[in-house]
This record gives sequence, structure tokens and C-alpha cells, in this order.
Amino acid sequence: MTKKRMFITGGAGFIGSNSAEYFAGKGWKVTVFDNFSRAGSVKNAKFLKSLKRNIQMVKGDIRHDQRLLDKEIAQTDTVLHLAAQVAVTTSVSYPKEDFEINALGTLNVLEAVRKSKNKPALIFASTNKVYGGMEGIRVRQLQSRYAYETYPFGISEDKPLDFHSPYGCSKGAADQYVRDYSRIYGLKTCVFRQSCVYGPRQFGVEDQGWVAWFIIAIVTGKPITIYGDGRQVRDILYIDDLVKAYELAFANRLAMRGEIFNVGGGRKFTISVWSEFGSVLKDYFGRKIDVKFSDWRPGDQKIYVSDIRKIGKMLGWKPKVSPEKGIRMLCKWVEENKELF
Ligand SMILES: NC(=O)c1ccc[n+]([C@@H]2O[C@H](COP(=O)([O-])OP(=O)(O)OC[C@H]3O[C@@H](n4cnc5c(N)ncnc54)[C@H](O)[C@@H]3O)[C@@H](O)[C@H]2O)c1
Repeated sequence: MTKKRMFITGGAGFIGSNSAEYFAGKGWKVTVFDNFSRAGSVKNAKFLKSLKRNIQMVKGDIRHDQRLLDKEIAQTDTVLHLAAQVAVTTSVSYPKEDFEINALGTLNVLEAVRKSKNKPALIFASTNKVYGGMEGIRVRQLQSRYAYETYPFGISEDKPLDFHSPYGCSKGAADQYVRDYSRIYGLKTCVFRQSCVYGPRQFGVEDQGWVAWFIIAIVTGKPITIYGDGRQVRDILYIDDLVKAYELAFANRLAMRGEIFNVGGGRKFTISVWSEFGSVLKDYFGRKIDVKFSDWRPGDQKIYVSDIRKIGKMLGWKPKVSPEKGIRMLCKWVEENKELF
């Protein structure tokens, strides 16, 4: 049987390197395409090489290496499009660069798929930020967290789009292009609007990847600032669960017809940013963790929880790793790999 092939843009990033490891472990021939701009991406690439599996590395940039994209994408069956500028704060400082990577870069990848003979299936990692700040949603304050007054299942795909921040706009534009390329050109595409994903090989920083960032800061003795009151709630998703969802979507013909899925921990796997997360960390490290509190950051939602019933129904997927378990696994990984940070 011929091996299945996967081309992963941003394959040396957090989600990309975990996906490359998983699919190569299942016998897929994987090509990692990355410009290695993210701190940690070179370390992730080194890790992938050390696995000695069928993983090829290609250095390139989705903004301007169209020919390289065309050549590589012509030889694959699936594309996992993850390469992106990922921080909201950076997008506010450099909106044009953010647009070029996230919106134009995605169009370049889609064009390579459209021009190819084999028309590989493509999954795009979008974000819940396409729904904006959702200021109109009524929220109540409990002791350690906020809760929705309505939306018992969280936010579904029907929520109107309301791009907020240059990052929200550039990812949102890409999200809609990916959907529309299925409608207009009949390509096999699928959009995952992801919530907070966390796990090993995530080089979290204060501006992006907060779960990993707090743990890295504790292990390496850096100060932690909590913006807001720490009761903000997020549904968090362990990386292994996300990669499984990618696998199920690629295998599902109906999902690859421009479907959109909200993907996160869902209402069962939520945690508040400090009031609850701090307790899990205190238990794990066996000591009180000192943090400093600062003002709310603009646009910071008091609560975001994905309604994951659609992906559950269509793909039979549900996340398995609870926040308590996943956080402990990540703490252990950071401790064992302290020299990487
Ligand atoms: N991690 C999360 O919680 C989360 C949540 C929602 C959406 N997403 C999306 O998932 C995707 C992957 O996120 P991640 O957490 O793995 O981020 P990451 O920063 O770890 O990975 C992104 C990778 O893309 C590469 N890259 C950046 N610009 C590039 C360019 N112009 N050309 C080629 N490569 C480039 C970087 O070097 C990096 O290796 C992104 O599209 C992100 O927007 C992530």
C-alpha cells in the first residue's frame, strides 16, 4: 500500500511538531514546511529529526515562496495549514506583517492546492477570536470563575463573526477563504476554530500560549503577571486530543466540504486562568506560586467556552484529557526539558 502523505505548514511549531510526530508514527510520509521564525521551532525540528521517522524538512515562507509551495503541495494528499503569526499583541504592533502571513499566506497555500492535479484535502487552524469580544453576552461572577448566564453548551459555529484585532481579522479572512475555496472550486477543505491548545513542545510566552507560559515561568523562575482578576474561564484542549480530531476530519468526506468546527475542551474541560489553574500548579509544585495582578487587557473575554457538539456529532470526537491531567503532563515535560527554555 502506498504511504499517505501530509504537508504541514508551520510544522516545526507547537501543534505542527506534535502532528508531525503523530502522523509519521502512524506510517505517514510527512513534510514539515516552516520558516523557523518562532522561538523554539528549531528545537522542535531537531526533535523531529531525532525521531528518525519519515519526516522531511523544507525551509520556506508561505508569504513569498509560491513556487516551493506549488512543488511540495503537488506531491501530497493532505495539507495541515498551521503556519501563522499567532500573537494578538504582535498583530496590533505589526498589522501588515500579520496580514501578509495569515491572510495572504493562506491564500498562497490555497492557490497551490487549487493548481495541483491531486487536489489534496486541507485543514486550516482558525481561532475562536473570529467571534470577537462577545461583549453582549451576559456573564455572572462565581467565587473562582465567570459563568455564562445563557449558552449552557458554550459558543457554537452559528455565532456571528465579529473579527476583533488585526489577528482576528487576518485569521478570520483566511478562515472564510478556506471555506469558500470549497464552495467555489470544490476543494476538500475544513476549518477548525480552535480554543486554547496546550501541551509539550509549546514554547509559550506571555502573549501567546498562556498555559505553557505559566508553567515555563515557574520552572525557570520568571515573574508571572495575571491581567484581570484571574477568574477568566477558558476551555482548554490537550494537544493529543486535537491531533486526533485532525485525523478524524481528514478521514471524513463530509467534514472536508468546507465545514467549520469549534474545537476546544468544551464545557467539561474548562479552567479559570488563575483562581483554579493556580491551585493545580500549587498542588503539582507543592508550594505557593507568587504572581502579580495587573489591569484587564483590551478585548479579554471573561469567559470563552466552545460548543463542541457539532464536531462530536459529525466526527464522533470528544476530548479525553482533563485539564488536571493535561496540566500535570505538561508540568512534567517542562521540568524534564528545562534546558530548552
Ligand atoms: N496554540 C493555540 O492555542 C491555538 C489556538 C487557536 C489557533 N491556533 C492556530 O494554530 C496554528 C498553530 O499554532 P501553534 O500554537 O502551533 O503556533 P506556533 O507559533 O508554535 O507555530 C506556528 C509555526 O509557523 C511558523 N511560521 C510563522 N510564520 C511563517 C511563515 N510566514 N512561513 C512559514 N512558517 C511560518 C513558525 O515558525 C512556527 O513554527 C496557528 O495557525 C494558530 O493561529 C493555535
